[in-house]
Amino acid sequence: MQPRYIITIDGPAGSGKSTVGRLLAAALGYLYLDSGALYRLVAWQAARLDLDLADAQALNAFLEGFQPEMASDSQGFHLWVEGREVTPLLREPQVTQASSRVAVLPRVRSWVTEKLRHWAQNGGVVAEGRDLGTVVFPQAEVKFYLDAALEVRAARRGLDWQKEEVTLPPEKVAQELAERDRRDATRAASPLRAAAEALVIDTTDLNPQEVVERCLARIREVLPAGCGPDVELEMKTG
Ligand code: DC
Repeated sequence: MQPRYIITIDGPAGSGKSTVGRLLAAALGYLYLDSGALYRLVAWQAARLDLDLADAQALNAFLEGFQPEMASDSQGFHLWVEGREVTPLLREPQVTQASSRVAVLPRVRSWVTEKLRHWAQNGGVVAEGRDLGTVVFPQAEVKFYLDAALEVRAARRGLDWQKEEVTLPPEKVAQELAERDRRDATRAASPLRAAAEALVIDTTDLNPQEVVERCLARIREVLPAGCGPDVELEMKTG
């Protein structure tokens, strides 16, 4: 059997992690794990249950019993709660801001980390987020850190929101992103940063395909010849 590796992609919102992660996972035949969706899920469910996040005992009891189901396919990463797919609901602006607030809580982080490690236990994973290469999978064989200029990231996020039929003025999108960046990068628990060994890619002027190609070139360089995924690292996704 082919060895199955762990590949991490970290970076701020709008840097291209999700698109690139999905394409890369499809090209390699790997599982795609979106850790941001799990922080969003905790924020969404906590709001639904009207949970007091400052109540450590209540938070702990909630997380211990919270067993969402996940699936990963060429369309991306999907989450179900009580038999219902909730993934699209997690992109809403209130959930987005709330997700970076729950992400400062160490108990929430340990819950997400545990889920990701469980799903990645057999390797063969492309996992993306803020602390995947630094904290969740420090042993990952290949690590990437994507970044891009704030205006470009905000424009990408604005387009995502248009697809969801949410219209927000560009200044509002940029402000929301900058606020989240600050919270994600300055928190005490697992702040956003590049792992020392990560390849940093500035995606400001690159399209997703170009970023994926750079990632594949790095994977070819780092993983031993003949031990990588069987596809000769060709793009299957066109
Ligand atoms: O990638 P995203 O926009 O879906 O992430 C939502 C929030 O979750 C983000 O503002 C910060 C948090 N997050 C985190 O703290 N650590 C991760 N590994 C992934 C996301």
